[in-house]
Amino acid sequence: MSRLILVNFLLVLLILSACQNSSERNHTAENQYNILPKPAKLLAKKGKFLISTDTRILLENDDIGLQKAADYLIDFLKKGTGHQLQIETTGDTKDAIIFRLDNTIKNEEGYQLSVSPYETTITSKTGKGAFYAVQTLLQLMPSNVFKAGNKSKNIPVSCVEITDEPRFSYRGMHLDVARHLFPVDFIKKFIDLIAMHKQNKFHWHLTEDQGWRIEIKKYPKLQEISAFRDETLIGHASDNPEHFDGKRYGGFYTQEEVKEIVKYAQDRFVTVIPEIEMPGHSSAALAAYPELACTDGPFKVQTKWGVFEEVYCPKEETFEFLENVLVEVMDLFPGEYIHIGGDECPKAAWKASSFCQDLIKREGLKDENELQSYFITRMEKFINSKGRKIIGWDEILEGGLAPNAAVMSWRGTEGGIEAARQKHNVVMTPTSHCYLDYYQSQPEDEPLAIGGYLPLAKVYSYDPIPQELKDEEAKYILGVQGNVWTEYIPTPEHAEYMTFPRSIALAEIGWTSQDDRNYEDFTTRLVNHFSRLNALDVNYANHVLKVDGRVTSTENGVQLSLNTKAGSGYNIRYMIVGGSDEKIDYKNPIPITERTTIIAATHSGVTQIGNVA
Ligand code: ACM
Repeated sequence: MSRLILVNFLLVLLILSACQNSSERNHTAENQYNILPKPAKLLAKKGKFLISTDTRILLENDDIGLQKAADYLIDFLKKGTGHQLQIETTGDTKDAIIFRLDNTIKNEEGYQLSVSPYETTITSKTGKGAFYAVQTLLQLMPSNVFKAGNKSKNIPVSCVEITDEPRFSYRGMHLDVARHLFPVDFIKKFIDLIAMHKQNKFHWHLTEDQGWRIEIKKYPKLQEISAFRDETLIGHASDNPEHFDGKRYGGFYTQEEVKEIVKYAQDRFVTVIPEIEMPGHSSAALAAYPELACTDGPFKVQTKWGVFEEVYCPKEETFEFLENVLVEVMDLFPGEYIHIGGDECPKAAWKASSFCQDLIKREGLKDENELQSYFITRMEKFINSKGRKIIGWDEILEGGLAPNAAVMSWRGTEGGIEAARQKHNVVMTPTSHCYLDYYQSQPEDEPLAIGGYLPLAKVYSYDPIPQELKDEEAKYILGVQGNVWTEYIPTPEHAEYMTFPRSIALAEIGWTSQDDRNYEDFTTRLVNHFSRLNALDVNYANHVLKVDGRVTSTENGVQLSLNTKAGSGYNIRYMIVGGSDEKIDYKNPIPITERTTIIAATHSGVTQIGNVA
């Protein structure tokens, strides 16, 4: 006899409690080494080093980088626990956290961390390595040190021996502040989270069709006109008819704010890479300076999302404008790379322009793609003449790559493969694995997003070295980056939800060797790591804790199996709605004999830590 069984899953969004209770802490205590990203070598040790009011920092070398790493630790513990550790340069190593330089360590960012009940020693080649040792050290402490204002007297640190270094030198996160603008404090929090996960590049997408977000003193109309749009599209760009909110939107970062952010990032060994888009995605600049286009205008700061036809015209006055802008930009950002965009530049305006067609003839160019290459190569020459390098989206390969340019491969991996074969540096950031504006779960359960589907497991499965590359080509792959485009991400909380924990998967891809990576192990560490993110008030997405149900029909009848990806050490509890309303520990598949509604959630002991499903 066949029976129709309907099992309903209710989805109730619960916000995780920011404070842990004791059963969650017990779990963390049993599993002490939840370090993200996973270190190269870790030898577990018994016992604890106690950070108390007696603990001192012993800086064995007079080195600015080492001092910076030590200062970071001091500030962090002061904020989190009220402890004010003192720095000494000589003295007893007992109860000390020792910072020591060692030139025999090969990797600039590598470190050794030895924690014993007697002393803690950080050995590194540079301040960067010491900083990453500090990040690991913090993750050996209880998660409440991450909560500002907590007043712990003694902080236990799990004893361990760690030897660690990154797989890639470029471990980046991008943030689009043009489609939506984010406050300075949020940018700092974003940088803190980049640094916490041992990422080292912040790609700051500053200019777009919908807004220009950096103060350029020579061109005040960029602030007066380009920084503001009249209104913003509501809903998805594909909606028909379109709706707008009717509200003026905008703003920009002053040069003082930019300096503050760059310094904040430097103190965390994060390089900020500014992006000034050209020749496309330039509507906002053209709205203020229409003479830089090929047609007369007027142009407006765009109010909806997409790619727009009018772009910078490759005229002398455009080059002069962009060079003047870049002079101010390079004064503010001391890093090696300046991002010049280069993506999604429609060629219709250039095709229709007699000026462009004459220029193509005069320069002996084949077509508009070569004209784009001419544009980028000119800008590259200028940037190179100031001792800097350019990086651009993979369209800069079309029409010929500028001689020293690095490429961000976003439309897949082909651009990266091609650039590496041409011996150009590459950052891999393909939409397939690195676009954190894509949905991370079923769209009906999620806030509106641009599209796509990129769950955490898929992000984690990515290997930035394309199999097509030979070893000598693969060395041009500098690393990996996650991109947070913000057309559909209007607030900091939403940006955190889209970014975390997928960016943490990317951080581990960038740091940990491919052979050492395992998704089950990652998610187990991640679930424990959530207590740190809770302490830091990060609005991460917790789909990894979701309970999945599967109904099967066997000779013993119909049953429901429940499963969570939270990893070992976590359990599922469920309730039969309309039944006794008691939470039951899930052990074996549940026999289903009638129409039943069951709700279930991942637990740590009796504490619910996941959403109800
Ligand atoms: C891009 O996503 N247009 C680089």
